[in-house]
Amino acid sequence: MSGTPLVLYGAGSQAYVLDEIVTSSGFQVEAILNDTEVPAGFALGVKVIEGRAAIDEWLKNASVGLHYAISIGAHHGEARSERHRLLRRSGLQPATLVHRTAWISKGAQIGEACQILAFAFVGTRARLGDAVILNTRASIDHECILGHGVHVGPSATVAGRVGIGDHTFIGTGASVCPDVTISANCIIGAGTVVTRSIHEPGTYVGSPARRIG
Ligand SMILES: CC(C)(COP(=O)(O)OP(=O)(O)OC[C@H]1O[C@@H](n2cnc3c(N)ncnc32)[C@H](O)[C@@H]1OP(=O)(O)O)[C@@H](O)C(=O)NCCC(=O)NCCS
Repeated sequence: MSGTPLVLYGAGSQAYVLDEIVTSSGFQVEAILNDTEVPAGFALGVKVIEGRAAIDEWLKNASVGLHYAISIGAHHGEARSERHRLLRRSGLQPATLVHRTAWISKGAQIGEACQILAFAFVGTRARLGDAVILNTRASIDHECILGHGVHVGPSATVAGRVGIGDHTFIGTGASVCPDVTISANCIIGAGTVVTRSIHEPGTYVGSPARRIG
């Protein structure tokens, strides 16, 4: 079965995570770009275009309007945002991928190049920036505002009216209490409970959240 051609940027686990949702959204992976130090070779049965120089060359010949998704996960939100801007500037078209089991409330706003995975929830009047990942079963409640490149990990729960700054990563199963604000560039560890606002970038763990490192 063939679909609308799409290029993935990133040849690691997130490419495999996206494989099913890409296909079920009517796309077909035409090329994979990878600029990590370790060459990937092949991913998803596609030969990977390796290194920034080869990628720049490939982009010169890529068709304008070709769709893309950024398959860079974990706490690499800044890298995901940067690759999103690069491909956008090159004339490619961001695809926002939403799993068929995800629930997006009426009135929620979703940015460009977002990935909303299986059973994720987005509450009413929530706003997501660009290149956001809501992982499996992540829940973002009403009126939350998520910056660019935020990643909310599997089964993490973000209560209503929470603000999360650009590129912050919320670990698996973390909970964020209502009306809290979390600074940009934070890593919130797995299972952490954020009860008060976090104003400084850093890594936070535990219940209630405390800074480490
Ligand atoms: C928070 C995190 C990033 C810290 O990783 P790290 O910088 O390598 O830190 P370390 O493993 O060296 O741990 C440092 C200390 O914090 C503690 N710690 C680490 N993660 C913790 C967590 N989630 N909850 C409570 N304590 C934690 C460790 O026990 C250790 O304590 P100690 O100094 O008393 O021994 C990581 O543990 C984590 O939770 N990652 C989230 C992974 C995830 O959810 N991925 C989803 C992928 S989609």
